[in-house]
Amino acid sequence: MTDQTAVVAPVKTLPDAQTVTAVKHWTDRLFSFRVTRPASLRFRSGEFVMIGLLGDNGKPLLRAYSIASPNWDDELEFYSIKVPDGPLTSRLQHIVPGDQIILRPKPVGTLVHDALLPGKRLWFLATGTGLAPFASLMRDPETYEKYDQVIMMHTCREAAELDYGRQLVEGLKDDELIGEMVADKLLYYPTTTREQTPLMGRITDNLTSGKVFADLGLEPMDPAHDRAMVCGSLAFNHDVKAVLEGFGLREGANSEPLEYVVEKAFVGDGI
Ligand SMILES: Cc1cc2nc3c(=O)[nH]c(=O)nc-3n(C[C@H](O)[C@H](O)[C@H](O)COP(=O)(O)OP(=O)(O)OC[C@H]3O[C@@H](n4cnc5c(N)ncnc54)[C@H](O)[C@@H]3O)c2cc1C
Ligand SMILES: NC(=O)c1ccc[n+]([C@@H]2O[C@H](COP(=O)([O-])OP(=O)(O)OC[C@H]3O[C@@H](n4cnc5c(N)ncnc54)[C@H](OP(=O)(O)O)[C@@H]3O)[C@@H](O)[C@H]2O)c1
Repeated sequence: MTDQTAVVAPVKTLPDAQTVTAVKHWTDRLFSFRVTRPASLRFRSGEFVMIGLLGDNGKPLLRAYSIASPNWDDELEFYSIKVPDGPLTSRLQHIVPGDQIILRPKPVGTLVHDALLPGKRLWFLATGTGLAPFASLMRDPETYEKYDQVIMMHTCREAAELDYGRQLVEGLKDDELIGEMVADKLLYYPTTTREQTPLMGRITDNLTSGKVFADLGLEPMDPAHDRAMVCGSLAFNHDVKAVLEGFGLREGANSEPLEYVVEKAFVGDGI
């Protein structure tokens, strides 16, 4: 794991340029980075923007990225995959503090509080980099003002792939702004599926078997007061939707708030 930070002044040469302020590599296929925030950018925690670099043809090469930082942060944080032959991430993984990226300041997305009816418990269900929008929402005071309990389920194949989320959750307890709210309300349930760790299993299996409810001492999901936000691969999203519908939750949207909402963590079947 390497850590690079620097205090740098933005130098604007690209269209919608922002300057990289920090980069951290978590595994050989995961890294996070921070960039300057456009003064005019307002977003709701959980939304995504288009970011990228200039392509070899001189045109912007952009991809959707969930903003991983909360909306009160002075900078923007992103949590990224490194796809070996990926047009963007094969290059983006080499950024260092002082470099510039392109960031289109038009945030959108469905993983927002406004797309859910009021409830008592909020479930964040994520695989892999699908954690990113919840890294934002877990740091937003509104999350704890709106709900009595927040449960973060994150599943990866291997233990090291959980590290970004684990470190973030552990740091929240000491956070001046939301430390106290988090201590009372946030439950963290990280699992792996391929490497042996204390908690194992797919999110779908741990919900249908009731294991997560038993482990955390919670009542099973009830559409009267449970709300959920889902972010993972297409296959994961598809299977979780069936599980949530089985508990009686219905999919909502910005235009029609209901009991759960879903966003793709990426397009495609896998690397
Ligand atoms: C709404 C939305 C939000 C997104 N937010 C993020 C984010 O916060 N962090 C992030 O890393 N990516 C995110 N992505 C994916 C991102 O847009 C790019 O696909 C990714 O950065 C790879 O770009 P690329 O050009 O290198 O490869 P691409 O050509 O875009 O992808 C190549 C292949 O790599 C696989 N892949 C792409 N992204 C991922 C991933 N995140 N995890 C596992 N496999 C993947 C897919 O199989 C894809 O077909 C998001 C996608 C969407 C639709
Ligand atoms: N993670 C790695 O170490 C690694 C390394 C090199 C290449 N890759 C490639 O990268 C791509 C993405 O890998 P990834 O690990 O980020 O994502 P992934 O394959 O979507 O797996 C992430 C987590 O989600 C679980 N999962 C997958 N499909 C699910 C479903 N339908 N319902 C419930 N849970 C589900 C997986 O469990 P299961 O383990 O049970 O599937 C795993 O714990 C894959 O094509 C993979 O071949 C991954």
